[in-house]
Amino acid sequence: MTRLWDRGEPLDALVLRYTAGEDHVLDERLVAYDLRASKAHAAMLAAHGYLSAADLEAVSAAVDELAAAHARGEWHIALEDEDCHTAIEARLTAQVGEAGKAIHLGRSRNDQVLAALRLYLKDALAALATRASRVAQVLGELAAAQGGLRMPGYTHLQRAMPSSVGLWAGAFAAELEDDAVGLRAATRRADKNPLGSAAGYGVPVVSLDREQTRAALGFAATQEPVTAVQLSRGKAEATALFEATLLATDLGRLAADLCLFATAEFAFVKLPDAFTTGSSMLPQKRNPDLFELIRGRTGEAAAALQEVLAVIAKMPSGYHRDLQLIKKPLFRGLDVVFDSATLMAHAVPAIVFDATRLEQALDPSLYMAETAYRLVQEEHIPFRDAYQRARHQGPGRRREP
Ligand code: ARG
Repeated sequence: MTRLWDRGEPLDALVLRYTAGEDHVLDERLVAYDLRASKAHAAMLAAHGYLSAADLEAVSAAVDELAAAHARGEWHIALEDEDCHTAIEARLTAQVGEAGKAIHLGRSRNDQVLAALRLYLKDALAALATRASRVAQVLGELAAAQGGLRMPGYTHLQRAMPSSVGLWAGAFAAELEDDAVGLRAATRRADKNPLGSAAGYGVPVVSLDREQTRAALGFAATQEPVTAVQLSRGKAEATALFEATLLATDLGRLAADLCLFATAEFAFVKLPDAFTTGSSMLPQKRNPDLFELIRGRTGEAAAALQEVLAVIAKMPSGYHRDLQLIKKPLFRGLDVVFDSATLMAHAVPAIVFDATRLEQALDPSLYMAETAYRLVQEEHIPFRDAYQRARHQGPGRRREP
């Protein structure tokens, strides 16, 4: 495989391995998106007389074939290809000859990778938002089935006031829905067409129709000026990872509650055997490993965000190969949160609250605030006086949370 920039001098094998890094593996998920962008770019070139109608037809058919064959797992990017862009252009040229070589007019891998990444990001964020909503939905179902059960509400992990399973589940459901909104909103920075910026400074002589590729790829806007494109790389990724980290945080806190509720000391919930793991030494144990790992993976998401921010910090403007290092934490961070949300949606329907244990935990002191509030309302005394009287008088009547 000759690289796109090959001038005949051989590339040191160690240097190739180090510079290509894991790109040939990571770029596998960008192949379909790069093909879509390549097809749109070719159509634009043809519309403006830079590619004949026959060549466009040949390129488009070859792109479709390559996409289908890749989806069937029939070809992969090799280390020697360096990245998906090289692998695709080489295969196109092998299939359609001259026309394959012609389509790199007016572009660079620098704008190509951004086009593919942004198309990927828009899909990935939509999929993650759907997963977040799914967890919210199963929590809503849990609230509908078991929400009437009363349980203590805690502050500082100390019993504070009466609450309910419905209020507990409803809180997480509402926040997860808000996370879904945040994830969808995070597409804004990814929704700009980078094509036409080429290496970062546009192209001489030929006039590109950036509006045509924008419309074909469904971007909301065309990024201007061309010099802003490389400066923005990593920011859409960081925004996506930030929102994903917030989702991971909510999943992790839900998981932390469930770990606590599953202890013998709380025993508010029973986790089915299929969702817990055993101990190699202690025969009696059932451990909530699933929830501990969902909690722990919050750190992986946050670390991925940190990694992206660290790559782009302090770099001069324009393209630099450092930017390639953004892909790994981006994919890892989004994948890990997607998996956590998937597993949480799978596990929540299996959670059964223990009504007896919940009732036992509702000790009368939880109603002291209520006693004070009643005194204020019924005897028209200031709250601080009512508070003192309630403290001496002890718990009062119960009400539904
Ligand atoms: N793999 C590269 C990246 O992700 C693609 C762009 C390479 N461009 C270059 N001028 N070497 O950044």
